[in-house]
Amino acid sequence: MIIDGKEISANIKEKLKDEVVKIKETYSRVPKLAVILIGDNQASQTYVRNKERACKYIGIDSLMYKHDSSFSEDELLLEIEKLNCDDSVDGILIQLPLPDHIDEQRVIEAIDPDKDVDGFHPINISKLFLGKHSLVPCTPKGMMVLLEEINYNLDGKEVVVVGRSNIVGKPVSLLCLHHNATVTIAHSKTKNLKEVCKRADVLIAAVGKAKYFNHEYVKDGAVVLDVGINRDENNRLCGDVDFEDVKDIVQGITPVPGGIGPMTITMLMKNTIEAFYLRNGGKNGI
Ligand code: GUN
Repeated sequence: MIIDGKEISANIKEKLKDEVVKIKETYSRVPKLAVILIGDNQASQTYVRNKERACKYIGIDSLMYKHDSSFSEDELLLEIEKLNCDDSVDGILIQLPLPDHIDEQRVIEAIDPDKDVDGFHPINISKLFLGKHSLVPCTPKGMMVLLEEINYNLDGKEVVVVGRSNIVGKPVSLLCLHHNATVTIAHSKTKNLKEVCKRADVLIAAVGKAKYFNHEYVKDGAVVLDVGINRDENNRLCGDVDFEDVKDIVQGITPVPGGIGPMTITMLMKNTIEAFYLRNGGKNGI
């Protein structure tokens, strides 16, 4: 089975669209997301454009702040403070990576945790750790929704997460743990990676290496979630998993493109609506 993130995310977007209509009827305004982009990183520009497009589609207001790479940390902190104080702004997203002269962690910590739609603020990370989460990082959240969509029960399952980033590997490991999986976090120093991966009922690949995981890493009947976005030898988009090599032995796999990627943006939209409810009370109907 190919786990069609594009289709699943399209269905969720329709529900989010309806939710925004309801919000507008009840509160006489729609949720608003502020996105800050600094510098001219091509991938970041594409991501930000896609976020803007998704907001427009769902009916969320978007405010885009684009600055050249000379924008200072102090200027950025001031901009964040203004957005924190602006009651019409529900979500704030600082596109990463930031230029080297800006301290990423300091900037993340400056965002009001209730507007932190990325779920990167230490308060939101602590809540995730405790299982009392509200705003959860978008890519891990999207992966959990995909597993729900295919009715996959993680209870007692072996999950192997390869990659230990703060954005993907660590948070998705916690979410799987909260769903009663037995979780292994593997990384570049892990010994016998093939054997470790081969144990996985669910293999989560987040290493950023084109087609790194072939059938030697994948157990028959496993579910494979591929977070990688890479270019192959022909400059075509591909994941961390060698899709063609494993597709016939797995129970399910997310393609690249069209798997995790569309879910990440949709979860950002969902988090923006959740942030709206966090700050405005009211029942979160989504
Ligand atoms: N850059 C790459 N992924 C992300 C993400 O999930 N959030 C932000 N803010 N920047 C990113």
